[in-house]
Amino acid sequence: MQRDLYMKKDWDNSAITAARAMPHTARVPAELHIGGVRIAPATVLAPMAGVTDTVFRRFIKNASMFTDPTSAADVDTATSNEVSGCGLIMTEFTSADGLSRMRETKRKRYLTYYEDEHPISAQLFGSDPQTLAEAAKIVEDAGFDIVDLNLGCPAKRVVSCNGGSGLLRDLPLIGAIFESVRAAVTIPFTVKFRLGWNDNHIICVPLAKLAEDSGLNAVALHARTREQGYAGQARWHHIAEIKDAVKIPVIGNGDVRTPEDACALIAKTGCDAVMIGRAAPANPWIFRQIAQYTATGRYDAPTEQDRYRMIRTYFEMLLAEAFPENAPATAAAGKMKQFAAWFTHGVRGGAALRKSIYEAKSGAAILDAVDRFFSEPCSASEATHSFEEILQ
Ligand SMILES: Cc1cc2nc3c(=O)[nH]c(=O)nc-3n(C[C@H](O)[C@H](O)[C@H](O)COP(=O)(O)O)c2cc1C
Repeated sequence: MQRDLYMKKDWDNSAITAARAMPHTARVPAELHIGGVRIAPATVLAPMAGVTDTVFRRFIKNASMFTDPTSAADVDTATSNEVSGCGLIMTEFTSADGLSRMRETKRKRYLTYYEDEHPISAQLFGSDPQTLAEAAKIVEDAGFDIVDLNLGCPAKRVVSCNGGSGLLRDLPLIGAIFESVRAAVTIPFTVKFRLGWNDNHIICVPLAKLAEDSGLNAVALHARTREQGYAGQARWHHIAEIKDAVKIPVIGNGDVRTPEDACALIAKTGCDAVMIGRAAPANPWIFRQIAQYTATGRYDAPTEQDRYRMIRTYFEMLLAEAFPENAPATAAAGKMKQFAAWFTHGVRGGAALRKSIYEAKSGAAILDAVDRFFSEPCSASEATHSFEEILQ
């Protein structure tokens, strides 16, 4: 899973970046509506297993505030959407099968979210229409604003049960699932999918039409096939084809890693919103930067001190979150180490910081290592780094 986050060969290709850069007249829309739910601005944090848990989601929604030391510790939840620049967050995918069989207490852990996360969408995967309908009802009863169906996961263990992108080979079954889930819930219902199984089987347009005909409220396309995994370039022209084919909102996804990319995706496809995955952990400021770029045609890069506050705040949030009772510190420290690899890119001397984080034995020791590193005069006074550097 973590490996996927490093599959960025084409992302770092400046020729592609230049080709996608658009004039400042291209804008990410200020809002969109998915059913009765207002998403403002029209940006979505992509669901990412192992990444977009409640801590990371809340962190992203408020990440923009870390440039202001006075507000870093005390986030104003009411305005966090528009201030953070992230209009919608989604849970990582959850097994419908597991959810419908779990005891109530365990379910709660999978579906944990906080009030300041609204609007929030819960993503499900599975292949049985009845089970998915039951799970969607559980999601609705848990207070989520939107329920989403995953038709994109390429992982073998998911595909082998016909879930995720496995279903892309069976449009009639997808139709039965749409019908069953639609009948079970009243909250907006959306689907996130890939182009198709492979290049000989591109079914994204008929799938989007089927979604619309079945009463779904929006579609999101990651413009790669299942066989592509994360290789090659996302083929945005298919997003434009879907936009031409349906009237419900279309969310574009794949290879957006700068504000310029976000505006280019909108301009080239006409899609209604931009969904961002891998760029978010590498650059938690991206949503705010998109908002700033949309408003002014320019955006600020985070300073070294911004990065310090960002790393510290996220780690503190991890420590504060209730991890499984028997190993709270270990679980938090494990997550901190996982994220250190992404967050410390763009920090000068980041390799040394990563090393001390990996060697630390507890969450508190990791925080000490971060404090020590950034209190050394040379690191704080270093020049800031470009966004391209962060992604390398
Ligand atoms: C680590 C990781 C986990 C992911 N987990 C999910 C998931 O649970 N559900 C889903 O629909 N897509 C998942 N994805 C795919 C992303 O949501 C997104 O479609 C993909 O990364 C392309 O967008 P990007 O180029 O902005 O990263 C995952 C991607 C990564 C890298």
